[in-house]
Amino acid sequence: MITIVEAIGRILVSEEQISARMEELGRQISEDYQGKELMLVCVLKGSFLFAADLMRKITVPCQIDFMCVSSYSGGVKSSGLVKILKDVSEPIEGKDILIIEDILDSGLTLSHLTQILKMRKPASIQVCTLLNKPGRREALVYPYYTGFTVPDEFVIGYGLDYDEKYRNLPYIASLT
Ligand code: IMP
Ligand code: MG
Repeated sequence: MITIVEAIGRILVSEEQISARMEELGRQISEDYQGKELMLVCVLKGSFLFAADLMRKITVPCQIDFMCVSSYSGGVKSSGLVKILKDVSEPIEGKDILIIEDILDSGLTLSHLTQILKMRKPASIQVCTLLNKPGRREALVYPYYTGFTVPDEFVIGYGLDYDEKYRNLPYIASLT
């Protein structure tokens, strides 16, 4: 049986580094969205801690809504087509949408999600990702804000799971 301690590898991003980066991102977003209709769209489940911490550092008026998506898997590999399991609860037309994502890996999920939301005529749409694994990109997705760039390893903690576990770790680590 794998115990929690055995599964946690190297700490890649510490609690202190996360907290400092939230301040920076919050400040930058607050400057960029002055006078706009900012709405954070938190993609569940992985980004719930990130969205909660980041939102507390944003000083301009903003709303938050939640989506839950899953990739359709026709085979072994993700097709990038997403199925909406939970949609936002209000129309996004005319709003300045900032998608809050946990990690940008192949980019297939996020690229499809962005296309779906664009069809609803928001005033603007950008992506803020906690983590970026640029080495694995298959779809053209350019996050406007990135928390940290991580190596091409499977990572856990601070909302990110392996088999639904380890989301509660306060730092980001590799999986052994
Ligand atoms: P993709 O960009 O379409 O490949 O899918 C990204 C999604 O896969 C993320 O939102 C995560 O839910 C999941 N994912 C990708 N890499 C990792 C990882 O290293 N740890 C945990 N989840 C991951
Ligand atoms: Mg996710």
